[in-house]
Amino acid sequence: MASKGLLQQIHDRVTHTVRHAVITHHKRSGMVLFSDTTLRDGEQMPGATLEPDDKIEIAKALEAAGVHSLDAGFPASSEQDVEAIRKMIGVIRKPVLTALCRTVNSDVDAADRALDGNPDHKRGVSLFCGTSPLHRKHKLEKDQAQVLKIITDSISYAADRFRIIAFSPEDASRTELDYLCKCYVEAIDSGATTIGFPDTVGVLTPEKAADFVKAIQDKVHNLDRALLAVHFHNDLGLAVANTLACVKEGANVVQCTVNGIGERAGNASLEEVAMALAMNSDQYNRTSRLDTTRLAPLCKLVAELTSVMIPRMKPVGGSNVFATEAGIHQDGLLKHPDTYLPFRPEVVGADGIQLVLGRHSGRRAVAHRLESIGMSFDESEVMEVVELIKQLPKGTVVDDTLLQELAQSLREPA
Ligand code: KIV
Ligand code: ZN
Repeated sequence: MASKGLLQQIHDRVTHTVRHAVITHHKRSGMVLFSDTTLRDGEQMPGATLEPDDKIEIAKALEAAGVHSLDAGFPASSEQDVEAIRKMIGVIRKPVLTALCRTVNSDVDAADRALDGNPDHKRGVSLFCGTSPLHRKHKLEKDQAQVLKIITDSISYAADRFRIIAFSPEDASRTELDYLCKCYVEAIDSGATTIGFPDTVGVLTPEKAADFVKAIQDKVHNLDRALLAVHFHNDLGLAVANTLACVKEGANVVQCTVNGIGERAGNASLEEVAMALAMNSDQYNRTSRLDTTRLAPLCKLVAELTSVMIPRMKPVGGSNVFATEAGIHQDGLLKHPDTYLPFRPEVVGADGIQLVLGRHSGRRAVAHRLESIGMSFDESEVMEVVELIKQLPKGTVVDDTLLQELAQSLREPA
């Protein structure tokens, strides 16, 4: 018995040292770690249900895109989530797989079973518990001390089973700051390796979000032992801006979903955060492992499998973001693609630029398209085609067939 105790102590010491080294490494690297929650918070969106095989396909695409961790599901809430996580074991190798749990031991056990077989450094739990006055009073019917005890007990329980433990105080952005920080300090002391800051109902602005991160860094004296993750909902359309404001202040992990799908108005959109960081490295001075060329196909895949359409103007994945019908823009793009684009389509793995022919199109785009379909027209003939296009009924799409018909009609004997 005595030697088993000693072995256990040595094991605990090694585990502690390894954990600390990994956290220190991530913090020193300055990397922004992407934690994707499409398969959990994203799937929570009404109508976005995914079958286990769909989840595997998305998880593979997320792995290929370079996400650091995957919020793979909520095992205690659904058998399908368990099945999906079981199918990921041995297939999804690079990202850490985490399972969502309430601060309830049976949830941690369910996560433990679901993630059984994944290596210790690639499996974790993500525990959450409401901490705001609203949650304490109306949902949990507990006072501050009671909620704190639930949190620390459950993290200690999880720490005997997992090396990676994230703790998120649900509704953190509406929790009293001192109490919030007390929860974080004790969570870390109990074994949390990541502390999350969820703006559960999406009420913050970038300035307020940044202030929270600064205050957490000031008041959580043991934060050197944990990563700080941020999680924003988009109820005010600010989830991406809030995420970036927190990155600027030093948050280590950003929790996002592809296409921004998620509860109510959704979550911070992974592809938007990734591109904003990639395009503004001078401002953020932080790198990430995301491969931006995977983003547009990833957006498409998630839209197809969830049946949640991407709005046409949605940054990165929307069908309009490399399309224009305006004559001045078309002319500029033909002269140099960068004149009217923030980045080229290939940067995000999208199909090429589309010069849509319609009422607003000009001479150069029409001439260019005529040439591409093998019709050589002089300037005045091109202008006649432009005029014909302007007279078409509202909303007519001028595809190659219609363009050819219009052009031929000019050459037919009257
Ligand atoms: O928004 C939220 O609070 C959550 C928690 C489960 C972390 O998604
Ligand atoms: Zn959420």
